[in-house]
Amino acid sequence: MSDIRKIVILTGAGVSSESGIDTFRAEGGLWEQHRVEDVATPEAFERDPDLVLRFYDMRREAIQTKAPNAAHLALARLDAEWAGDLLIVTQNVDDLHERAGARRVLHMHGEHLSVWCTACDARSRWTETLIERPPCPECGEPALRPDIVWFGEMPYRMDDIFAALEDADLFVSIGTSGAVYPAAGFVRNARELGAATLELNLEPSQGTGWVDEARHGPATQVVSDWVEEILGPPR
Ligand code: APR
Repeated sequence: MSDIRKIVILTGAGVSSESGIDTFRAEGGLWEQHRVEDVATPEAFERDPDLVLRFYDMRREAIQTKAPNAAHLALARLDAEWAGDLLIVTQNVDDLHERAGARRVLHMHGEHLSVWCTACDARSRWTETLIERPPCPECGEPALRPDIVWFGEMPYRMDDIFAALEDADLFVSIGTSGAVYPAAGFVRNARELGAATLELNLEPSQGTGWVDEARHGPATQVVSDWVEEILGPPR
């Protein structure tokens, strides 16, 4: 670790799983309860806005009842104590990294606690429901949608992510299946750009062939152990 200065971490649903938030592709996971096409595409929103708004109202309410787990807390400690560059790119739309205290977080798939006005393009923090078509806090129009990147839409801040991958000395993939691009390709990008690569996941992901090292187990264990290896035991 001595020659490591710049770390990029990619997290997925597995890092929030032990906080009680469903992952997407496990048995009975989120996408087994809902067809993606019915709730997570612009076409779905066009076709049946009430169904989509109700789905995200339910998810927005549910995440506010959950708490960060030991993996989120370990990553927040790393963020606070790591003197070099560090970026947590998360595919997750919950706010558990932030509630654990992490600051250098980039939500590439958007956030449940943010809404996007299709009239004035403003984004606002939002903890309530949208089904009643409330007015946009900026322009007053009843034109708010979930600030979530749906299938077929471009993930946020890809330039910033690729700039961080260019410079990374270490890329760590945590709690993600490696099933959805472009995030699933980051491990290969990082490796080809010269970073060391590490996977911390319950089981081998689809990207496990690209990592120098893989540690498998629950995130609350493998992430906490890894952070302690780097920083030493919490003071
Ligand atoms: N600890 C560590 N890893 C875990 C745990 C756990 N407790 N529980 C599950 N996992 C792992 C699973 O083994 C799996 O590899 O987390 C991964 C979750 O994979 P997915 O359910 O596919 O979630 P994710 O990779 O985040 O999905 C990526 O797909 O549908 C889109 O936008 C959605 O952001 C999401 C993207």
